[in-house]
Amino acid sequence: MIDTSIKVSEYQARRKNVLSALKGSVGVVFAGDGAPPLRGEWFPNFDFKYLTGIGNEPGACVIFDPTNPDPRRKIMLLLKPVNPEMDVWDGYRDLVDEKLRKKLGFESIFRTNFLPRLLGEAAKRTKSMTCLHPLSTYTQPVSPDLDIFQKLSGRIPGSSIQDQSELITSHRMVKSASELKHIRSAIKATAEGIDRVLRASKAGINERQLHNTLVSGFTDMGAKTVAFNPIVGSGIRSTILHYKENDQLTSDGDLMVLDCGAEINGYASDITRTFPVNGKFTKRQKQVYEIVLKAQKASIAAVKPGATMVQVDQAARKVITDAGFGDYFLHGIGHHLGLETHDPGIQSAKLKPGMVVTIEPGIYLQDEKIGIRIEDDILVTKDGRQNLSSAIPKSVADIEAAMKKM
Ligand code: GLY
Ligand code: MN
Ligand code: MN
Repeated sequence: MIDTSIKVSEYQARRKNVLSALKGSVGVVFAGDGAPPLRGEWFPNFDFKYLTGIGNEPGACVIFDPTNPDPRRKIMLLLKPVNPEMDVWDGYRDLVDEKLRKKLGFESIFRTNFLPRLLGEAAKRTKSMTCLHPLSTYTQPVSPDLDIFQKLSGRIPGSSIQDQSELITSHRMVKSASELKHIRSAIKATAEGIDRVLRASKAGINERQLHNTLVSGFTDMGAKTVAFNPIVGSGIRSTILHYKENDQLTSDGDLMVLDCGAEINGYASDITRTFPVNGKFTKRQKQVYEIVLKAQKASIAAVKPGATMVQVDQAARKVITDAGFGDYFLHGIGHHLGLETHDPGIQSAKLKPGMVVTIEPGIYLQDEKIGIRIEDDILVTKDGRQNLSSAIPKSVADIEAAMKKM
């Protein structure tokens, strides 16, 4: 139930950080609900996963009640009631006892039918409730904690609702040593998959065969699964930003965009390499490739503490625009990486040591069937940056050499 690749004490420390940032106000983080799907697996809200390590408890939540007079109840885990008839379908669950409290690192665990009482008592005492879930747009349902707090505030005269909806994101943005270890492992598995694809590629091979070769590299290196559906797109499909079919025959002279990542211990990697399926870049492909590579290097060099992702984006965009391809760099420079491939970030926030971001400029020339993207995973360090995926061939010469290997 709990992901033991991160120590229980680290989850406890993460929760304590939230508790103290609430400054006496009440907060709640929901896992989300829903039945396990037939295809794939059920995923909790990743803020809940970050705070608990629990990935298979639909309906669960954590209540933060900093002023509770009982110190054991300042942070409480609520789980859906055990239902032996339902558990036959979805898995047997533990009864609440000392063993479970120890395993999950919570001193207080209750069933969710206690939620209205526990949250109500806390809100009446503090008269202050704080939104921790990201706020939604007006076309989406109200975020789950704000929805409850609005109902509660109508029942508690003088109470108010505060906004700390970016708090957990700000914590998640800075990775711990154990998180970095898992991200590095995921990158290593991804490197193996990419290496196998580079060696297996030849004109005429089906994209699906390379897709399967890629995934076998991931899982042979201990990955549970892919972090996201990989993009294995050749020819015109290299220009489709979210291509997902991966089922067409490649042709001699095609470029291939391979955008992929493995998941290890719950953490993602996200790497893109672009290569000629026949192992040799044409003159034109090489010319455009070198521009994207120069842009990517300029952006990577701009990653450092104090910089913003906007500045990092501008560094690549300038290179691509100066080369005359500004209209063909269609997307942003990258995103944070962690539990999620697109980990949450705060656009205006300055980069800090411990953050991991992707740098992934591209040029997409539909008319020439040339799509090129190069993506690496970059750790912000005290002195600047470390490219965590630098071992994966990237220069024209290194890619061509890797493709010659048997
Ligand atoms: N593969 C998704 C991305 O690069 O953001
Ligand atoms: Mn990617
Ligand atoms: Mn990416």
